[in-house]
Amino acid sequence: MFVKLLAVRAKPLNSTPAADADVGPVLFSAEQIAARVQQIGGEIERDFAGSVPLVVAILKGSVLFVSDLLRAVDAPIEVEFLAVSSYGSGTKSTGVVRIGKDIDREISGRDVLIVEDIVDTGATLRHLKDYLGQLKPATIRTCSLLVRSPVGSEHEPPDVDYVGFEVASDAFVIGYGLDHDQRYRNLPYIAEFLV
Ligand code: IMP
Repeated sequence: MFVKLLAVRAKPLNSTPAADADVGPVLFSAEQIAARVQQIGGEIERDFAGSVPLVVAILKGSVLFVSDLLRAVDAPIEVEFLAVSSYGSGTKSTGVVRIGKDIDREISGRDVLIVEDIVDTGATLRHLKDYLGQLKPATIRTCSLLVRSPVGSEHEPPDVDYVGFEVASDAFVIGYGLDHDQRYRNLPYIAEFLV
């Protein structure tokens, strides 16, 4: 029996889907993201030495980031998922944070690391810290792939312990987990969304 092998041509990692006029310039390439995720993984490994951190990954935007980040930590680590929404289908935060799917177990006494996709006004992160704080973890630290630059923004950004990259206050971004109206999460890079 003959097995026909198909040659699959890999798409260039940073190619923009030609048909999508909404996808703007690439801000962070797949290679830049991968390198930064490795650095943050190393920092987490060092900072949490002697503890088994419990990552609380915020759905859906952090899914790609957290799956790479977990693999960048060469030490015991656990993960839970929690779903929130604050954006609806637009590009401006509604300011109302709704918790959808909750975490599935106790976090009391644990060293918790909240992992977010992007911190914009900070309302979501503040809400999550308050919510998880009531469940009596030993410590809560925060990690976000992106934070919106405070320059030109009317919001006071919250402190984030681990930050991947900063984006301009007026850029709505998509890719590597971040969406616009549920689309573009699968882009391997982060690009500006052309509103
Ligand atoms: P915040 O509560 O204003 O900090 O908004 C944080 C949440 O808004 C993030 O978890 C994202 O889901 C969403 N968000 C904010 N900016 C962007 C963006 O540029 N692209 C995609 N989602 C965004």
